[in-house]
Amino acid sequence: MNIVSEETWETLRAHARQAMTKAYAPYSGFPVGVAALVDDGRIVTGANIENASYGVGLCAECSLISELIMTGGGSLVAFACVDGDGNTLMPCGRCRQLLYEHSAEGMLLDTLSGIKTIDEVLPDAFGPRTLRAYQEAH
Ligand code: THU
Repeated sequence: MNIVSEETWETLRAHARQAMTKAYAPYSGFPVGVAALVDDGRIVTGANIENASYGVGLCAECSLISELIMTGGGSLVAFACVDGDGNTLMPCGRCRQLLYEHSAEGMLLDTLSGIKTIDEVLPDAFGPRTLRAYQEAH
């Protein structure tokens, strides 16, 4: 269920577009911006930060998670990602895992095929509960 209003989605897209203008993407030429609503009402953002050593470049979601943690933590409620034209972009697989770790129950993502939950875009996810369950059993 999409409990986030269309106005909030537009606010998140606007923050993601603004963040995208800060991207450092000289190698791919593919700037990305992201924004998320935190469960305390904060909005956190990020942009991709590439590197001459291509493989160590950071996705926009990495800088968003850094901002989340460095500004007080919390859980992500809703997330939007845009490309250099400001259009909705699907987060890459690795970044879905990054987001999952910090997701609120039922976290929502703005996707090309509509609003989806984190469980829909990363089904049967490996995460903190997997580790806890194993540790508790051993
Ligand atoms: N990129 C992101 O920042 N997030 C994604 O979810 C998809 C890909 C970046 C990584 C790289 O800097 C550029 O897009 C091209 O792959």
